[in-house]
Amino acid sequence: MARDLAHSRPHRVADKVPKSAIDSFAKRLAKLHSALGPVDAVFPPWIQQGDIRWMAIPENSVDLIVTSPPYANAIDYVRANKFSLVWMGNPLRDLAVLRSQYIGTETHKLFDWDIFPAHVQEILHALSLKDRNKAGLLGQYLSDMRQAMARMYQALKPGKCALIVVGTSTMRGLDVETPQSLALIAQDLGYQLQGVVERSLDRNRRMMPARWGNKQTGIEQRMDSEQVIALTKD
Ligand SMILES: C[S@@+](CC[C@H](N)C(=O)[O-])C[C@H]1O[C@@H](n2cnc3c(N)ncnc32)[C@H](O)[C@@H]1O
Repeated sequence: MARDLAHSRPHRVADKVPKSAIDSFAKRLAKLHSALGPVDAVFPPWIQQGDIRWMAIPENSVDLIVTSPPYANAIDYVRANKFSLVWMGNPLRDLAVLRSQYIGTETHKLFDWDIFPAHVQEILHALSLKDRNKAGLLGQYLSDMRQAMARMYQALKPGKCALIVVGTSTMRGLDVETPQSLALIAQDLGYQLQGVVERSLDRNRRMMPARWGNKQTGIEQRMDSEQVIALTKD
């Protein structure tokens, strides 16, 4: 009976007739399938669920990586995904455990920043002068992403490309340069950086976060665009 899944309030719509999530998904899948006509040879795809950091993907086996990982400290993804997760069989009580495993989770902090390139350490130090706790959360996010990008690097075939889409984050008024930081960390891991390119977001088609009225919150202001980091492996 929710108005929709992304908007939290006003929430309940009394006269809404709930649709079957599975039927709606099947319709959307059929539409996508027909739009993908020329690539029929790979349909149905092989889908494997998991966290890249713990998955057994053979080395030098992947032709292309396209990923939209969590933003630093931007969105409560468990809340955003709650309905889908429950429909797909995750018991509600497990969601708290899942939350603690998410990249960008608010439950872990990292203050040992030696693993990061100098410029990234400078940003973390600048943030820690304003808010030590936030700097610990950002350190943990960057460390989790470093681990994920290292595994992506292993999995990628030489000569192939990884595209990472990520937004900027402002913490305590400081632009923490997430895309630039991830690009620097990636280079440390061995990737060649091909470029970081801005992509505008269509505000009317975006699902998250919710927008009510005309007033822009902090998160709204900084989410009009995102950056695409293009990396290759030699
Ligand atoms: C920026 S969103 C991208 C959403 C995606 N493009 C989509 O259309 O569903 C980042 C996603 O990463 C997921 N995520 C966070 N931590 C993760 C982890 N450790 N393993 C796998 N996915 C994770 C979040 O739940 C969220 O859906």
